[in-house]
Amino acid sequence: MTLVAKRDAPAATQQRGLPVPGFRYGEEARAPQAASMPTPLLRIAGVSLEYRTPERVIRATHRVDIDVYEADRFVLLGPSGCGKSTLLKAVAGFIPPIEGEIILDGRPVRGPGPDRIVVFQEFDQLPPWKTVVQNVAFPLRASGTLGRREAEARARHTIDKVGLSRFADSYPHQLSGGMKQRVAIARALAMQPKVLLMDEPFAALDALTRRKMQEELLALWDEIRFTLLFVTHSIEEALAVGNRVALLSAHPGRVRGEFNSHEFDLTSVGSSAFQAAVQRLHRRLFDADPETAARPAL
Ligand SMILES: Nc1ncnc2c1ncn2[C@@H]1O[C@H](COP(=O)(O)OP(=O)(O)O)[C@@H](O)[C@H]1O
Ligand SMILES: [Mg+2]
Repeated sequence: MTLVAKRDAPAATQQRGLPVPGFRYGEEARAPQAASMPTPLLRIAGVSLEYRTPERVIRATHRVDIDVYEADRFVLLGPSGCGKSTLLKAVAGFIPPIEGEIILDGRPVRGPGPDRIVVFQEFDQLPPWKTVVQNVAFPLRASGTLGRREAEARARHTIDKVGLSRFADSYPHQLSGGMKQRVAIARALAMQPKVLLMDEPFAALDALTRRKMQEELLALWDEIRFTLLFVTHSIEEALAVGNRVALLSAHPGRVRGEFNSHEFDLTSVGSSAFQAAVQRLHRRLFDADPETAARPAL
């Protein structure tokens, strides 16, 4: 497995052979202004999200600005309760912003759609009585996207892309955890989404399995270069999995900074540069927020 591409980022600019203005780890890597930059695939612009109950209004995120470029592995990093899942649900189209806009490929997001697919964390959710190819074909058929033959052909093609053709007719219990993750991602990719959404997919796993799944995810990205929006509260995971990381403050979530992490991968976890980056993000996460600190304690 090679993770070479992990070092080549931001992916969008790299792919298009464009310069990488202002992209150095540790600097505020706000959306580059240069005219040569490609248009973001996904733009989260000034997005505030709220939950309304009969008793009160809970603001989950406050005026979040994020630009995700094609083939980015963009990570939303922040403490529990800061609105990461809510933001992902808004991108998926389940929660409308109360202010701001979410724009995907030039079109405002108005509801759920097959161009954004959530890959769920329970890879064991693959129905065990369906073969790999049946699992991958199922959403294509159930959504009415394709008929039976076309769905199977697309499923086989996608399974081939994720390197599982030998297992196309196997059942989930015959696969390793990493392979099941590949099937789950293949199932999503078969729908040809513009962006894959993952919400703390590895949070419940033991450390070794987690690492294995992170490796699998990066290897697959290396092969296919899908666009990923990935949520985690783990600084290490954010740095290792992402090429760009947006740091969200505690409730309500605001963007406190954006960092490039393309120089890191899973092999850098023990390095001093990686540890320094972890410390830096840790301080950034837990330092008093100037805006909150300025307010009197309630
Ligand atoms: N269905 C809901 N109704 C009311 N409040 C909610 C609901 N879901 C989440 N919240 C609140 O919104 C805030 C953000 O939650 P969430 O997006 O789940 O955070 P995170 O994923 O970062 O842990 C939290 O304060 C949480 O309690
Ligand atoms: Mg969450």
